[in-house]
Amino acid sequence: MTLSIGVLGLGSVFSGPYAALITKLEQEGRVRLAAGYDPDPDKRTVAADRFGIDTTAGGPEDLIGRDDLDIVLVLTSMNQHGSLARAALEAGKHVLVEKPMSTSLEDARVLLEAAAVAPGQLVCAPHIVLSPTYREMHRRVRDGEIGDLHLARARYGWSGPWWGRWFYEAGGGALFDLGVYNLTSLCGFFGPVRRVTAMVGTAIPKREINGEFVTVRADDNAQITLDFGNARFATITTGFTMQQYRSPAIELYGATGVLQLLGDDWAPNGFEQWSNERGSWEVFGERDPNWPWTDGLRHLVESVENGTPTVTRPDHAFHALEVMLAAKRSAEEGSVIDVTSPFPDLDYDTPTRTAGDAHANHDPRSS
Ligand SMILES: NC(=O)c1ccc[n+]([C@@H]2O[C@H](COP(=O)([O-])OP(=O)(O)OC[C@H]3O[C@@H](n4cnc5c(N)ncnc54)[C@H](O)[C@@H]3O)[C@@H](O)[C@H]2O)c1
Repeated sequence: MTLSIGVLGLGSVFSGPYAALITKLEQEGRVRLAAGYDPDPDKRTVAADRFGIDTTAGGPEDLIGRDDLDIVLVLTSMNQHGSLARAALEAGKHVLVEKPMSTSLEDARVLLEAAAVAPGQLVCAPHIVLSPTYREMHRRVRDGEIGDLHLARARYGWSGPWWGRWFYEAGGGALFDLGVYNLTSLCGFFGPVRRVTAMVGTAIPKREINGEFVTVRADDNAQITLDFGNARFATITTGFTMQQYRSPAIELYGATGVLQLLGDDWAPNGFEQWSNERGSWEVFGERDPNWPWTDGLRHLVESVENGTPTVTRPDHAFHALEVMLAAKRSAEEGSVIDVTSPFPDLDYDTPTRTAGDAHANHDPRSS
């Protein structure tokens, strides 16, 4: 079976990281990059020349409506994610959507409802829980190697994009673009957040984008405190305000030990573990330095090939969105905000259920 791919959004993540993985999967005979659409005619021309794909669709709905596509990648600016992903699912496609799954909780809920009944699978970025390093840390936490989790600290940031004005417009921002990684990681370890309090703001009011100064209308700086219940807390430091760092991406403090993910959670560089019993740190080098953060696409292809559910669950992404929106509200109101949506624990060991069973397994609308 060779799965045919159509792409919405032919910008930076398509032409670099996703195209590299698609090329690899094409060489393995598993996929074919068939078509793409972007409202920017220059990007359509470049994609057609470089990848030999059909870019003649008159709009996203034209591409989504093509009968010959199995998978649609939604790699557009954030405000478009929810509606395009939903339209593609409703057209019977398997869908990968970049983060966040939507910029509005109402649209995300409708997207989840569509995913629960659609024949296709929905994979939502970020795909970090698929990395071998994350998986190994998750196994150690679940096996009780550091005891009950009590506290955590996470950070991810950089100086910010110099392309794509939409990053700095309403519906963009560092929390949706960057904070979502730490949040997805931490929730994978702790489970659902119960309460959020946050400082979220705009530290740099003007940015130079493609040589032009623009007024920033989105957050670029955030400090978030998460309450997972039972006095289990975590903080996230994120922003388009961090020039460099030399610190772990994720620090997990348990009753009998500590685990620290090195590098960034989307580009791990191994991990370190402290054990009270041993009285020492152990350092574990990166198992797969070439692990690509686009791995959700390989995972989706594999799930479709085998008819098995994905490890990543859309309701995990929905929860992350609820927390991010709650963090923004907390900052605006100066209050602590409750979070209610559930999501199941990561299940790396059940590849035998059919994809249909996976849909039946958990209906996020019950939240
Ligand atoms: N750039 C990164 O390092 C990075 C990393 C991981 C994830 N992401 C995510 O990937 C997505 C894309 O980021 P990017 O850096 O490629 O942005 P980009 O601005 O380079 O590309 C986005 C493209 O989407 C197109 N687009 C807008 N509306 C569309 C529509 N209705 N249909 C089809 N195309 C449409 C735009 O014209 C643009 O070319 C974002 O959600 C971003 O958060 C980016």
